[in-house]
Amino acid sequence: MSTYDKLLDVQRVTAVFHIGSIIGGTRLVAVNDVSFSLDRTRPEIFTLAGESGSGKTTLARLLLHDLEPTSGAVIFEGRDLATIKSRKDTLEFMKKVQPVFQNPFETFSPLRRVEDYLYDTAINFGRAKNRRMASVVVDEALHLVGLSLEEVTRRYPHELSGGQLQRVSVARALIPQPRLLLADEPVSMVDASLRMAIVNLFRKLRDEQQVSVIYITHDLATAYYISDRIAIMLRGLVVESGPVNEVLDRPLHPYTQVLKESVPEPVPEQRAQWIRPIDLGTTEVKEYARIGCKFAGRCPRVMDICRQTNPPDIHVEGRIVKCYLYQGQESS
Ligand SMILES: Nc1ncnc2c1ncn2[C@@H]1O[C@H](COP(=O)(O)OP(=O)(O)OP(=O)(O)O)[C@@H](O)[C@H]1O
Ligand SMILES: [Mg+2]
Repeated sequence: MSTYDKLLDVQRVTAVFHIGSIIGGTRLVAVNDVSFSLDRTRPEIFTLAGESGSGKTTLARLLLHDLEPTSGAVIFEGRDLATIKSRKDTLEFMKKVQPVFQNPFETFSPLRRVEDYLYDTAINFGRAKNRRMASVVVDEALHLVGLSLEEVTRRYPHELSGGQLQRVSVARALIPQPRLLLADEPVSMVDASLRMAIVNLFRKLRDEQQVSVIYITHDLATAYYISDRIAIMLRGLVVESGPVNEVLDRPLHPYTQVLKESVPEPVPEQRAQWIRPIDLGTTEVKEYARIGCKFAGRCPRVMDICRQTNPPDIHVEGRIVKCYLYQGQESS
């Protein structure tokens, strides 16, 4: 596949943060040499999963051109995001790559009617010249998410349920007619019983609107249900990736196995315990700084070599896995 055949091509992208003072501070590689690509002609749902502090949001920021990579490149439709500088080019890019955020109650101000956001988006992205023309565009986008303009008209955010409001934020993201949605934990604030209905929208958009979706989640159950491929992140690294059924039916990396055993998350209030199971502050920074496999300190199957050097990508059983357990078993 040449670059031109790709919608998105993430090439060895790395993001380094300096925490603490410059002298004596720590270098944290929040995204560490990550590569993957999405096909241009065959839309898909690509999940990024991993516990809290694994670099998912930082990677999303790189893909949204909200953060410059320290090294590597993000290419969208053949263009390196680093070359996008002017307002016009930025707007063109934003039309094609739209974010959906975690908490719809933070996305929308409590003091503004939700339809105003939708009208503004239609006008700002050039889909309509005025409100009257925009109403057709807005209604169309709302229909794609199972709502209508009539249902949201004159409503303030608190007058809608979390599920409805998250649908509105997906509708807002669809107004510019993007090719790619980047949804960072889009259902974690939504009742468990409504999550499936919302993530199912992504499938519908993939199949009926040719929109690709990067779905960021802790919830492997919804990921399994809707995605085509999945990448499991651990301290900035993608440690296992491949077709979602291969990876989640039979995870190879011990970290993926541990993550899978932590599912299902029973009730939202207990979710935090799973996401931050251990003393995050120290463990997280320690694991980021670890030489060798970042999981070595917690891995039930750790070997000496795991503490010495970072495992390479091993192609085995239809996926790529960074784990010494599979060395020598590479598929040809
Ligand atoms: N602007 C920043 N400056 C310094 N460190 C940062 C910054 N943004 C993120 N980090 C650190 O980078 C690491 C990855 O953070 P990130 O938010 O990408 O993780 P995440 O996988 O999205 O976590 P969560 O599931 O909690 O949303 C964390 O250790 C975080 O503290
Ligand atoms: Mg995050």
